Amino acid sequence: MRAAVLRTPGEPLTIEDITLAPPKKGEIVVRVEAAGVCHSDYHYMTGDITCPLPAVLGHEGAGIVEEVGPESSGRVSVGQRVALMWRPRCGECPACIAGNPVLCRFGPLQATTGGLPDGTSRLSRDGEKVHHFLGVSCFADRVVVSERSVVPVPDGVPAHIAAIAGCAVITGVGAVFHAVGECAGRSLLVLGAGGVGLSAVMGARLSGADPIVVVDIDPRKLEHARRLGATATIDARSGDVVAQVLAEVPGGVDFAIEAIGRPQTLQQAFDALSPAGTLVAVGLGRVGETFAIPVNQLVQRQKRIIGSLYGSANPLIDLPRIFGLYLSGRLPLDELVGTTYPLESVNEAYDDLRGAVGRGVIVP
Ligand SMILES: NC(=O)c1ccc[n+]([C@@H]2O[C@H](COP(=O)([O-])OP(=O)(O)OC[C@H]3O[C@@H](n4cnc5c(N)ncnc54)[C@H](O)[C@@H]3O)[C@@H](O)[C@H]2O)c1
Ligand SMILES: [Zn+2]
Ligand SMILES: [Zn+2]
Repeated sequence: MRAAVLRTPGEPLTIEDITLAPPKKGEIVVRVEAAGVCHSDYHYMTGDITCPLPAVLGHEGAGIVEEVGPESSGRVSVGQRVALMWRPRCGECPACIAGNPVLCRFGPLQATTGGLPDGTSRLSRDGEKVHHFLGVSCFADRVVVSERSVVPVPDGVPAHIAAIAGCAVITGVGAVFHAVGECAGRSLLVLGAGGVGLSAVMGARLSGADPIVVVDIDPRKLEHARRLGATATIDARSGDVVAQVLAEVPGGVDFAIEAIGRPQTLQQAFDALSPAGTLVAVGLGRVGETFAIPVNQLVQRQKRIIGSLYGSANPLIDLPRIFGLYLSGRLPLDELVGTTYPLESVNEAYDDLRGAVGRGVIVP
């Protein structure tokens, strides 16, 4: 089968003929119908973050179950439409028991081994081991994944919507639902109008946040953000971002969601908070990257900073909830989708990450 492989950070992905071994117990084969172009893959492509290589990238996908491995639990059946999750839950570790499945031991295990939950790979090329990426690897015709890495997709939710729900949407909407919480009538700032930031904007609109201020460096992305629910937008290139936010929201914002992952923008988000305001950090940075927090501002203004992974969500509850909100028209995710690319154009899709409006989608 064809798959997009990262061999060396800094070099383009290569489309290669990869051999997929049959699924083992607890695993399934999914034919990929759509895969979203998330910036997280790009962090690995540039070397900001490392993983075992070579690896088939892609972690935001959806498709149809083609095969179920031996001794199936019956949880998943052939022909079923599923969205892929890059954070499966084992159900037994302390994080799962505590109700934080996003922090399940399977996540770091898959990320560090480049394998499936048992630590081994089903991907190879002419005898050479190829790694999985976050247990998904959906820039490919097919994937073998743990049956714990999928959630059913209801009729009426197209594959490209199910795909982006599996990362950008659950991350951004979940950051509002779970990390921010109740925010009707409260001010909310989003930094970064990519797929994740725009999903946060949609979640904020749904939750009644007001005003919703969005910062980006691209005027077309800001215009898109206004269509999706931003009540005010700020072009970061047009001067002091914090001063512009404070001009929109005197006294500072109740909540700021940083969906870029840069020290400078985290600093801006922190500085733009009102007393007792909360900064939710969602963007990922280069490994080891830090930003400075003024001690007295943190204490005397009782500001809060929290990280949010995968929307701090419970994906098996939140993805069906997101699909339901899409089907009822409350979460118009069609408006989030940008350009569609064939698998061969995956590098072009990543070149476009900077300029293209909306979430790009690969259709293998
Ligand atoms: N926490 C999680 O679970 C999680 C999940 C998915 C993605 N992410 C991370 O979230 C971040 C965003 O992902 P994405 O796919 O939306 O990326 P993206 O590239 O589509 O969007 C990033 C946006 O930030 C804007 N931007 C860049 N520099 C800026 C600056 N200095 N000031 C203002 N805006 C600026 C860009 O114009 C772009 O619109 C990435 O770091 C990604 O790795 C985190
Ligand atoms: Zn992602
Ligand atoms: Zn677990």
